[in-house]
Amino acid sequence: MLVADDYEAMSGAAAELVAGQLREKPDSVFLVPTGTTPLGMYRRLAAMHREEGVSFARATFFNLDEYLGLPADHPASYHAYMEENFYSRVDVDTARVHVPRGAAPEPEAECERYEAAIRDAGGADLCVLGIGRNGHIGFNEPGAPLSSRTRVVRLSESTREVNAVDFEGGLAPESAITVGMTTILESRTALLLASGANKAAAVAAAIDGKVSEAVPASALRRHGRATFIIERVAAWRLTRNTGV
Ligand code: F6R
Repeated sequence: MLVADDYEAMSGAAAELVAGQLREKPDSVFLVPTGTTPLGMYRRLAAMHREEGVSFARATFFNLDEYLGLPADHPASYHAYMEENFYSRVDVDTARVHVPRGAAPEPEAECERYEAAIRDAGGADLCVLGIGRNGHIGFNEPGAPLSSRTRVVRLSESTREVNAVDFEGGLAPESAITVGMTTILESRTALLLASGANKAAAVAAAIDGKVSEAVPASALRRHGRATFIIERVAAWRLTRNTGV
């Protein structure tokens, strides 16, 4: 676990880790998050591309989740977020960029297709994650089975309220497509980022608490090759060094 002094330090360390993965294996497969936490990491990666020639052209990207029912061109969709904050700013091969299709006519079939695409790509080399205030990773909310694969899930009311800022007049959608816990845990390496004081309780539960399905992020402690990069203000409730 690394406690970063501030948001910029967290973002820089995360970007270095992603760039290191690419140096080691240019055709790496990544699972990637949206949200406010990774914005700085994406900004750094875009700068590394512009200024240092870091290339993403041979890499494959799978986003962790998307709201159910939202078309790709909806401004609050994770398609739109990724395009704006990362994919349009680097040299990704669009054929190797994947986001679950939230508006797919048959969501269950879309989940199966998505899971198969990750499998066919050889699984993820690095899974980058944020953490919800309730300990969720991807949209695997508290109680998500460790055995879960890509599927349609109902979002908790608290998640919908937190994410409401992205939606005009009201809550976020009721449901989403998310990559499952097993899919995440099968990634060869994982990186969880946490920023902001409002994540301190979730970070403490994930790192100091019991490993349990009630706190999905805690499962990463059983992974073996998971790194936690926590901004200092999100780390203040940690009471012991669990060696993660
Ligand atoms: C989003 C995702 C979520 C977020 C989490 C934290 O793709 O997978 O698990 O990482 O909700 O979101 P922020 O970073 O906005 O606090």
